Amino acid sequence: MRGSKRLLLIFTAIAGLIVLFSQCMDTGKHTADVALATDSSFAGTKTCVQCHKGIYDSYLNNVHNNTSRPISSHSLFQGDSAASTEYSFNEHLKMKIEKRGNGVFQAVYVDGEKLIDRKFDVAIGSGKDAITYGSWKKNNLQQMQLTYFSRIKSWANSPGYADQRIYFSRNIGSRCLQCHASYADEKIEKSGILITSQELVKSSLVYGINCERCHGPAGKHVEFHINNPNEKVAKYIALYQSLSRKQKVDACSVCHSGSDRPVLKTTFTFKLGDNLDEYLDKNSVAEADPDVHGQQNQMLSSSQCYIKSSTLNCITCHSVHDDKVPGLTLYSKKCMNCHQVPKHSDKTLANAMVKTNCIDCHMPFQKSKVISFKLAGKKGLDPYLLRTHKIAVY
Ligand code: HEC
Ligand code: HEC
Ligand code: HEC
Ligand code: HEC
Ligand code: HEC
Ligand code: HEC
Ligand code: HEC
Repeated sequence: MRGSKRLLLIFTAIAGLIVLFSQCMDTGKHTADVALATDSSFAGTKTCVQCHKGIYDSYLNNVHNNTSRPISSHSLFQGDSAASTEYSFNEHLKMKIEKRGNGVFQAVYVDGEKLIDRKFDVAIGSGKDAITYGSWKKNNLQQMQLTYFSRIKSWANSPGYADQRIYFSRNIGSRCLQCHASYADEKIEKSGILITSQELVKSSLVYGINCERCHGPAGKHVEFHINNPNEKVAKYIALYQSLSRKQKVDACSVCHSGSDRPVLKTTFTFKLGDNLDEYLDKNSVAEADPDVHGQQNQMLSSSQCYIKSSTLNCITCHSVHDDKVPGLTLYSKKCMNCHQVPKHSDKTLANAMVKTNCIDCHMPFQKSKVISFKLAGKKGLDPYLLRTHKIAVY
């Protein structure tokens, strides 16, 4: 895959990518905090820094915090590292990324003549794997034709987009943002039960996943602790240690159990401690055959480690506020906390990895069933590999 200039991705299910927003961000102000501050129950992320500086600072570079951002200058974030600013569909049809005075554009050329262009407004995805971009058309955020893929440092047709067709009008709706942002209001018009129009309220968009997206509104918590500086026990905020394992796992599954479960009510209001089954319909999913992509929750809960222990949950291995990903050695230490001396055969023990890397054998990369890649000029599909969270003997 590496080195290939053109890559066409076929995503048959969601998770892919995409799109975004912008404008009005050109002021450089943090809309997120402005919007939150006007709601009396929210305190706004900036208020957390005075009492939780360590967490606040490391969270700035966390992928969750950067999973959606406005394009407020000429920066496309990792998208600027692309080896080439062109993408050719065929000898007649090509696209270019163009920086101009008033912004950055994706422009379509047919036989050297410019047909149309659209402005980059919003980035979705931290760029760890990919960034998909959106362009505002009135109150609709429309996914742009080209997505940036970090591992191959290339632009390629956005997942789900047909190979030789230019199509800028796929909306990035509220559902994407429920997992990739902290808030977005929608204006829906109906005639009876028929939805006649559905638009985002642009000014309501709060980018990134912020502190209160996970912890819930903290206005009262902040007010209390400002007035009671000697109180060392947290008040008016869900206490993580007091939650059940299901509540702990739900706090991550709200975004890490895929997008197949029908939404009963918007997950923007879901917070730590809530019961996810009240937000996403549990009964109508085929949980039996989860995918490595986006369904870490279902994979993990089918592991013996999860079933036979009462404590294992996402936080056992992941720290949510950190700005770096631990290496495989560090992850393996988490395994050894429960498995000091695994019963390995002599053959397994002969493998040099066995003392320091449990992951490659017990959480190997697997092919996603819902996503595959198609390289230009090649027949057939290439697999998209992710680590399985079903910990087992393979
Ligand atoms: C149910 C939650 C959910 C929904 C809905 C969702 N995503 Fe994602 N998305 C995720 C998670 C979780 C990841 C990273 C982990 C993974 O791939 O398993 C991700 C990864 C991504 C990435 C790669 C980011 C990176 O750099 O690693 C992009 C881009 C993206 N999503 C865009 C979109 C777009 C566009 C939509 C709407 C069409 C969307 N997502 C809908 C949860 C969601
Ligand atoms: C005036 C000080 C102050 C401010 C501002 C503040 N907190 Fe706290 N917070 C505390 C104190 C004190 C504790 C208890 C000690 C600790 O856990 O650090 C606490 C604990 C917490 C906890 C831990 C709950 C648990 O599981 O034990 C969370 C979560 C939290 N705060 C979130 C926030 C968020 C989010 C913000 C910003 C919106 C915020 N705090 C702003 C003082 C503050
Ligand atoms: C993706 C969800 C998520 C986001 C976003 C998030 N937290 Fe947390 N936070 C958690 C979870 C889960 C725990 C409990 C596990 C732990 O301690 O790591 C926690 C624990 C805490 C604690 C108590 C434990 C400790 O380490 O002191 C504080 C304080 C806190 N968070 C503050 C914040 C602040 C401030 C922000 C924003 C800068 C923030 N959190 C963003 C999920 C989140
Ligand atoms: C509001 C939605 C949301 C919640 C809640 C959430 N995540 Fe995520 N998480 C995402 C998205 C979206 C991504 C992909 C971010 C990107 O790269 O753009 C992600 C990425 C990750 C990654 C990959 C990080 C990396 O650097 O490879 C881990 C690990 C993760 N989340 C763990 C957790 C855990 C643990 C929790 C619960 C405490 C949690 N998440 C809660 C949406 C969420
Ligand atoms: C919270 C404790 C805990 C952690 C952390 C943990 N496990 Fe386990 N694991 C268990 C328990 C309990 C079992 C079931 C043992 C039994 O059935 O006797 C188990 C079973 C297993 C099995 C046997 C699986 C099977 O299907 O028979 C393997 C392999 C395994 N764990 C590997 C790992 C690896 C690798 C890690 C780190 C990525 C890990 N475990 C982390 C508790 C844990
Ligand atoms: C026993 C340890 C362990 C537990 C528990 C665990 N993870 Fe992971 N997770 C890992 C390891 C190891 C990786 C691979 C890291 C790497 O390759 O750098 C990973 C990677 C990820 C990624 C990045 C996607 C990918 O495939 O590269 C996401 C997202 C994630 N975990 C979310 C979760 C969520 C959500 C939970 C809870 C439902 C969870 N994890 C529970 C160990 C764990
Ligand atoms: C080279 C691949 C490999 C590596 C590396 C590896 N394992 Fe295993 N593991 C296996 C195989 C294969 C089995 C089945 C028994 C056997 O044939 O050795 C197994 C069995 C297990 C079991 C089930 C037996 C039991 O003790 O209940 C556990 C738990 C386990 N491994 C944990 C770990 C941990 C923890 C690490 C890292 C310190 C690790 N493994 C590293 C391949 C590996």
